[in-house]
Amino acid sequence: MKRVSIILILSLIALFLLASLTLGQQTQTAVAKYGKPKIDAQMDEVWKSAMEYVTDRYVSGTKGKVAYAKFRVLWDEDSIYVWAEVYDSLLNKDNTNPWEQDSVEIFVDEGNEKASSYDANDAQYRVNFDNYQSFGTNASKDYFVTATRKTDFGYVVEAQIKMRTKKLAEGMVIGFDLQVNDANMFGNRVGIVAWNEWDNESWRNPSYFGNLKLEK
Ligand code: BGC
Ligand code: CA
Repeated sequence: MKRVSIILILSLIALFLLASLTLGQQTQTAVAKYGKPKIDAQMDEVWKSAMEYVTDRYVSGTKGKVAYAKFRVLWDEDSIYVWAEVYDSLLNKDNTNPWEQDSVEIFVDEGNEKASSYDANDAQYRVNFDNYQSFGTNASKDYFVTATRKTDFGYVVEAQIKMRTKKLAEGMVIGFDLQVNDANMFGNRVGIVAWNEWDNESWRNPSYFGNLKLEK
């Protein structure tokens, strides 16, 4: 009897450890609807057909204390489009590192290979609340059109990311992630909040991106 309960307790502990290891690490899938908005930081009618998602993986910083975003994605044959509403009560861009300024990052893997390092069809884009763009691997201004606007809750970002290696089509699944960087009044980054990733790895490891399914 005693031995049975010890085994039971040990397996419960093992189960708990396994659950906490895998928790928050499931790859998520979002749906992008077909449509082309005007990039002006105003919400077009076409955005209303798109599903809304929330960045809810707190890579650093505590939920309720640091900035996060609600976002939607659209697509057409040449681009994906992102609408993000960032809830951030204090906007700061003092840090010389753009990723430590109040900003949004968008990660795209056109082939969705989920490789552990960037290949030719992966790219990292960033724009701060003041519409200052910066670029990680493979990204450049030629493929990034953005507009931002301050609001009473923080700021909005509207972005077009042009595809670099292929035409998009209905039913395709590409790799995608969205990250919010939150700076405090001293220009220090106090929050990194992502939609899919959980370890501040997306900038160098596309296997941390989620999936974006293109629907009509
Ligand atoms: C990460 C930073 C990294 C930067 C590089 C950001 O997404 O959060 O830690 O240094 O990308 O571009
Ligand atoms: Ca902030």
